[in-house]
Amino acid sequence: MRKGMFALAAAGLLATGSMAACGSDSGGDSGSSGGGSAAPGKVGIILPDTSSSQRWGTDDPKFLKAAFAAAGVEADIQNAQGDKSQFQTIADGMISSGVKVLVIVNLDSGTGKAVLDKAKAAGISTIDYDRLTLNGGADYYVSFDNVKVGELQGQGLVDCLTANKAVKPIVAELNGSPTDNNATLFKQGYDSVLKPKYDDQTFTKGPDQSVPDWDNAQAGTIFEQMLTQNKNIKGVLAANDGLGNAVIQVLKKNKLNGQVPVTGQDATVQGLQNILAGDQCMTVYKAIKQEADAAAALAIALAKGETPTTATGTIKDTESGKDVKSVLLTPKSITKETVKDVVADGFVTKEALCTGNFAKLCTDNGIS
Ligand code: BGC
Repeated sequence: MRKGMFALAAAGLLATGSMAACGSDSGGDSGSSGGGSAAPGKVGIILPDTSSSQRWGTDDPKFLKAAFAAAGVEADIQNAQGDKSQFQTIADGMISSGVKVLVIVNLDSGTGKAVLDKAKAAGISTIDYDRLTLNGGADYYVSFDNVKVGELQGQGLVDCLTANKAVKPIVAELNGSPTDNNATLFKQGYDSVLKPKYDDQTFTKGPDQSVPDWDNAQAGTIFEQMLTQNKNIKGVLAANDGLGNAVIQVLKKNKLNGQVPVTGQDATVQGLQNILAGDQCMTVYKAIKQEADAAAALAIALAKGETPTTATGTIKDTESGKDVKSVLLTPKSITKETVKDVVADGFVTKEALCTGNFAKLCTDNGIS
């Protein structure tokens, strides 16, 4: 994996050289105004881990690499493997190697801010990718409408419980990492849908717990305890596919899978397979290609010394009270009927999804 990245970075460098030689400028592609004619600087990108979601090890690096390679801008993409000190070491290395732009997905706001501060002191432009670093002061933020993600999850669970004709079902909530601002936004979204249901007693509020670092193994342990204490849990709001899968494994052990709807997020292969199998109620598809392309467009403009024009929105940093210039994309709810849309969009291949027993389920659900 890592080897591949370096190979691509090297290819990016070559492309940079040849573009500079013929004086070409792809300013139109990068969504920017103004113009620097010097060769673009290098971009450093730090991803958080490879265990909390398929995306960080697979989807994001793939789409980011492609976007920078297409523009002939060198990108050094590294992954901190869930280790905060490693995250800082990578950042130090990128800063001293002279990157012009630093793009981070923080592991928590504290270490994120420390890195952003150092970068700014070195005159480097900064972008928060997917997760906002609270009080971090990044120049730009690229993500999805994360409150909307949560609303889709809440509504998905309501729809599945309604389809099950559940009477006053006990709903458990398994939230993402308390150190991830997105987890707060997701919860804000799904609680805005679920709370009125608890209040008018259509649903019964059950256990509600956060999963440190989105750790899937801990999620399993937490849910096992929830179920032991509360055998009648009838629906689970799990904040992403990894947490959802951990819940589904516990439900399977108790022969309850398929009877207790579970939500997710990220449209991972595993999540989509769980949906096809009838064990997962829904997931949220966030087109990572769009997110990677949006971040790359900003970073490329900045690397060329131009002023980006694509960040037309803002998000409020709840800690500093400041507005951060943002690109916020729209998430989409996926159920069994629409799994095929994720394949049609090219995010997941039929080959990866429709393996073994899933081949028939794929055919049954119009995935071709
Ligand atoms: C991302 C999700 C991801 C989660 C765990 C969140 O910040 O928005 O896509 O599932 O982190 O990595």
